[in-house]
Amino acid sequence: MKLLITGGAGFIGSNFIFYMLKKHPEYYMICLDKLTYAGNLSTFASVMDSPNFRFVKADVCDRMAVYRLFEEEQPDMVVHFAAESHVDRSIEAPDIFLQTNIIGTAVLMDACRKYGITRFHQVSTDEVYGDLPLDRPNLLFTEETPLHASSPYSASKASADLLVLAYHRTYALPVTISRCSNNYGPYQFPEKLIPLMIINALKGKSLPVYGKGFNIRDWIYVEEHCKAIDLILHEGKNGEVYNIGGDNEMRNIDIVKLICKLLGKPESLITYVADRKGHDMRYAVDFTKIRNELGWKPEMKFEDGIQNTIHWYLDNKTWWEEIIGGEYQNYYEKMYVCR
Ligand code: NAD
Ligand code: DAU
Repeated sequence: MKLLITGGAGFIGSNFIFYMLKKHPEYYMICLDKLTYAGNLSTFASVMDSPNFRFVKADVCDRMAVYRLFEEEQPDMVVHFAAESHVDRSIEAPDIFLQTNIIGTAVLMDACRKYGITRFHQVSTDEVYGDLPLDRPNLLFTEETPLHASSPYSASKASADLLVLAYHRTYALPVTISRCSNNYGPYQFPEKLIPLMIINALKGKSLPVYGKGFNIRDWIYVEEHCKAIDLILHEGKNGEVYNIGGDNEMRNIDIVKLICKLLGKPESLITYVADRKGHDMRYAVDFTKIRNELGWKPEMKFEDGIQNTIHWYLDNKTWWEEIIGGEYQNYYEKMYVCR
């Protein structure tokens, strides 16, 4: 089995590659990644020389490069992680989100039609459903919830999802889509809530909480997401959408306070800053379908997952110090210092 994994040098994609190399050592994995600011080749140091792993630097929007790779490798399945993934960046500059997340998905699916595959899996997000109110805790996103994206990022992901389903209907392309909630764990780029707070707390820097910090996200340990995708690839039905959730709703402020506690840092580091534009209030995922049909449910408890994550960032300082020492400084200035 040959798997083409796009965006594998990013957070979830790299965790997926590590998971699959262990779970299916007989598979051959090709990672296609543009290595944007969010992609990190050093993540692959331990597997770069594995005979069943190949890294290719390319842009999913580059039709020639994508077709060339398909011609050369003839992958059986494609798992499409590559995307611009940060909501705050999409608010500042939407264009690249439309290009990569929509056009890139179409280019890849055109290659799949041309060269033939057994499955194209679109890694999507619960953000395509928009948000839920805080005062109706029983409301959850199901696969039938209408798409109602709030940010340029989530609108670009929703557009890509519609294209994926259209390619299935029009060209009978064998596709599946997963829509997962907020992931956390090793190798997450420190622009996202949990790694940003861990690193700032370790450095004794202020912890910027948007608005009042009452927004709710459903947190899932990244390996649980990887397990679900593996299951969908092998047992999911063509043309179907599967929600994936952590069954773990938490307010941002409670996460930040917990990180302070676990690191022995004072809550006085917390600084309330201007809210995100169009900020989604609450995400909560109903994952009954994947639980009933494929037998998946999240197993890692948040208390354990967050400890693992904190330990990972403590043990892998070189990985993130290289990141925050570069272009990240300008990003941080622009997003936080002048906020
Ligand atoms: P990430 O930003 O950490 O990684 C994205 C990767 O894609 C990077 O390696 C980057 O170099 C690569 N990439 C970007 N543009 C590219 C292009 N044009 N061509 C090739 N490669 C390109 O993102 P992530 O958090 O790992 O998310 C991966 C996927 O999962 C995304 O599609 C995202 O929408 C989805 N998702 C993320 C979460 C989450 O909580 N992080 C939850 C649900 C779904
Ligand atoms: O739900 C899945 C989505 O989760 C994915 O599709 C996205 O790719 C991923 O980035 C994530 O989106 P969020 O916007 O929910 O994640 P983020 O880590 O950026 O923010 C989580 C919450 O924390 C959100 O309510 C905003 C808040 N926040 C974030 C940052 C970076 C802060 O209060 N302060 C911060 O500095």
